[in-house]
Amino acid sequence: MDIEITALEKTFEHRDRAIFTNLDAIFYAGKVSVILGKSGIGKSSLLNLIAGIDLPDKGEIRIGSHLMSGMDDARRTLFRRRHIGFVFQSFNLIPVLTVMENITLVGQLDGRPDKDIRRRAASLLETVGLSDRQGEFPDRLSGGEQQRVALARALINDPAVILADEPTGNLDKETGTAVLEMISTQARQLNKTLIMVTHSPDALAWADEVYTVENAALVPGNTI
Ligand SMILES: Nc1ncnc2c1ncn2[C@@H]1O[C@H](COP(=O)(O)OP(=O)(O)O)[C@@H](O)[C@H]1O
Ligand SMILES: [Mg+2]
Repeated sequence: MDIEITALEKTFEHRDRAIFTNLDAIFYAGKVSVILGKSGIGKSSLLNLIAGIDLPDKGEIRIGSHLMSGMDDARRTLFRRRHIGFVFQSFNLIPVLTVMENITLVGQLDGRPDKDIRRRAASLLETVGLSDRQGEFPDRLSGGEQQRVALARALINDPAVILADEPTGNLDKETGTAVLEMISTQARQLNKTLIMVTHSPDALAWADEVYTVENAALVPGNTI
């Protein structure tokens, strides 16, 4: 599904300037879109808006034919669960669940058969190289390992949209390359819409489209 953002405006309370004043963008299915920008400029906020975790003050975000602001909270949650895989900058793993449980939970909430979910979770864990850690709790894993669990969790429902916030930020070069190859392949071969926030030159090499957040908007290219 393509993602189309029109005239997006957003201001956070207690912040004197708007974070976005008039942001337009289109992200295409099957493409790897990379978003750059200085720290604190609004990259994570933009992903939150696209995912419907946060709502714009004005403007529209459409994912396929679905208008995010046209859904109530409950429908937006269901939509996100089914269609959006979000790799959070800070992982957001649930500490009292094992690696396997963290990954399968979202699939169970989406009502998929348990056996299918577990099979897919096992395969994703193998792809990210963590098959032997499935019974472990997140606090026993390194940052890089947690990041790979977060990636496997984001992909469990085979989402049409993947939003990845600095997904290689905690990874060594080799693991980072494996992760980039995995999500980029998801986008290109399975026609998913991948939007990745990153500073990594390695990640930039995978980009089909590059944008920079600046002046409260999204501009084409790497302007940093
Ligand atoms: N929910 C929120 N409420 C208030 N301010 C926020 C919220 N989320 C982000 N901000 C502020 O918006 C700015 C951009 O944050 P963020 O999107 O995390 O930047 P980036 O990901 O580009 O580093 C920061 O000044 C941050 O403090
Ligand atoms: Mg951020």
